[in-house]
Amino acid sequence: MKHFEIALIPGDGIGPEVVAEGVKILKAIEKADPNVSFSFREYPWGCEYYLNTGKMMDDNGLELLQDVDAIYLGAVGYPGVPDHISLRELLIKIRRGFDQYVNLRPIRLLNDSFTPLKGKSQKDIDMLVIRENSEGEYAGAGDWLFKGKPEEVVLQTGVFSRKGTERIIRYAYEEARKSNKTLTSISKGNALQYSMVFWDQVFEEVGKEYPDVKTYSYLVDAASLYFVAQPERFEVVVTSNLFGDIVTDIGAAITGGLGLATGANINPDKTYPSMFEPVHGSAPDIAGKGIANPLAAIWSVSQMLDFFGLEEWGRSVLQTLETIVKQKDRLTKDLGGQATTSEVGDYFVELLLK
Ligand code: NAD
Ligand code: IPM
Ligand code: MN
Repeated sequence: MKHFEIALIPGDGIGPEVVAEGVKILKAIEKADPNVSFSFREYPWGCEYYLNTGKMMDDNGLELLQDVDAIYLGAVGYPGVPDHISLRELLIKIRRGFDQYVNLRPIRLLNDSFTPLKGKSQKDIDMLVIRENSEGEYAGAGDWLFKGKPEEVVLQTGVFSRKGTERIIRYAYEEARKSNKTLTSISKGNALQYSMVFWDQVFEEVGKEYPDVKTYSYLVDAASLYFVAQPERFEVVVTSNLFGDIVTDIGAAITGGLGLATGANINPDKTYPSMFEPVHGSAPDIAGKGIANPLAAIWSVSQMLDFFGLEEWGRSVLQTLETIVKQKDRLTKDLGGQATTSEVGDYFVELLLK
């Protein structure tokens, strides 16, 4: 019997709505497979918690999470609490605190009708973006000088360490080699003369160890254009924290929207737990209406199952995703259907166990 303990952080807005559906899938798997069991520990952290306690998570929050097999997170951030507080004190704190330096964001078109790109189909849009997830532009280094004075200056500094840059680039080369795919680095050395020149240099240096991997290197502005105009150029992509954030929302846009975009925050050394979450946020505009698309959150369950070594179940969840997206009447409004969040989850379970 394989047992996995999962920390649930449903968070804010539609977070709890979509996490509930992901948990439904895990519970269904547990019921169907006598060799697997899950237990859940739920933490009420988020913006409401902050308004009640002055904290986004308990002071010993990371300690509390330290021993779980995975963290499953919904979304963080809600009007009423400044975003830089809510996000930096919960989501980013966990990513950095647990050294989840690899952010795996697959961008795959599951149904030709979901892309707004004319003439593009499933064969054109299938890539894996590997986003640096621990430092870069998100390192939090900077200063605010002479606040409120005419000479006011703010500094926001990116931090690119040799260790941090090499390890993510190496991870991406390994992934490209393993899957026999091309590797594209996205950077911006023409304007960022320290960080991105260094990034490009490391990309080239590490590349010498992988002569079998075909590489490309694009500036982020041109890469954004190619994401839309020629997504077939990309297979495995490696990029910095901020650029990865932005291009993966473009990736979501070309594959059906944020309701279908997933991400895994991985600590490859397994010193700390990894975290699985949809790419989207708390969507205050639709929160509480029962119409949020749970498929991104369910896709991240598939990533979690792969991470647990339950690849057969991971594949089954992915195949079920591929099946359900062909049935418009079973989908939420963002994908052209009328189903509610929990109806999608219920039908998903039915299909999965068929
Ligand atoms: P958002 O992702 O919450 O929403 C953007 C748009 O996509 C909205 O129109 C929303 O309705 C739609 N959308 C998102 N998820 C959807 C789903 N599952 N089904 C259907 N439609 C969906 O981004 P935002 O509005 O820029 O941010 C809202 C809050 O969430 C902010 O506080 C932001 O900082 C936070 N945020 C958190 C995360 C996270 O926790 N990982 C990610 C992004 C944004
Ligand atoms: C994401 C989100 C976060 C990020 C925000 C909410 C801090 O946009 O996971 O894509 O920028 O990493
Ligand atoms: Mn984002």
